[in-house]
Amino acid sequence: MSVDLPPEVIAKKRARRPPAQYLLPDRSNSRMKPDEYGTIYASRWSASIKDYVAWYFAYKPVLHSVTWMGVPTRKFVTDLWIYQEILYELRPEMIIELGSLFGGTTLYLAHICELMNFGQVVSIDVSRQVYQVSHPRIIEVTGSTTSPDVLQTVRGLCQDKKVMVIHDGAHGYEQVSKDLENWAPLVSSGQYLIVEDGVVDIFENVPDTIGSTYQSNYPSGGPLKALTEYLQRFPNQFEIDETRERFLITAAPRGYLLKL
Ligand SMILES: C[S@@+](CC[C@H](N)C(=O)[O-])C[C@H]1O[C@@H](n2cnc3c(N)ncnc32)[C@H](O)[C@@H]1O
Repeated sequence: MSVDLPPEVIAKKRARRPPAQYLLPDRSNSRMKPDEYGTIYASRWSASIKDYVAWYFAYKPVLHSVTWMGVPTRKFVTDLWIYQEILYELRPEMIIELGSLFGGTTLYLAHICELMNFGQVVSIDVSRQVYQVSHPRIIEVTGSTTSPDVLQTVRGLCQDKKVMVIHDGAHGYEQVSKDLENWAPLVSSGQYLIVEDGVVDIFENVPDTIGSTYQSNYPSGGPLKALTEYLQRFPNQFEIDETRERFLITAAPRGYLLKL
């Protein structure tokens, strides 16, 4: 692997890589105790991972109730834990978040930086209407991800820095494609481009709690289609790092991209 990573990080990545492509062993015969708890949890845990992921993502009382320090964050909690591991291992100096919404994830990233006494977060969003956070490690840039002014400002901030980019803006295929062209080149070698919410490309038709579906929201596809095409058009720039999907529950399938 031609990545400029410290040897101990490469060793850890290799150790984490499971041999069997993340296939779970068949535990369908595992029985639960026939007492009250066994009965309650047997029905609660009877869903497949597929059903769980669709439910978490589409069922607003779950996804919309996730908070960091009281601020809503639209993330799978397993992904947030992976973010923490990446920040600790790779210590990016600039973390660019494309799309912040309420700012729960922005604040989470800033708090991890504060704990490490290292790094800053650049929050980019076209709207600050619901955004709720501020922190000395957060730099706000308000405007569209496609605005040349925004790009120029952030390029200036990232000059000679180790940069990581998280895409969590608009999720339609066309917008993500444009964003990847503009923002993927800013990612430093040995750092990650994370493309969120490719999960919408995997499910055919999951009604959410307000009655729309992935297909009606993203008629021409979403982030997974955009990133797959991007990787084909610009080969040998990123490696899909499936070790970051090892909890299996992720909103970013094939979306943890290590810059080579
Ligand atoms: C899915 S939410 C972000 C969720 C947030 N990252 C989190 O983890 O909680 C998408 C955000 O992207 C913003 N957005 C959508 N299109 C954008 C664009 N072209 N430029 C900048 N921000 C955009 C929206 O205003 C919204 O706040």
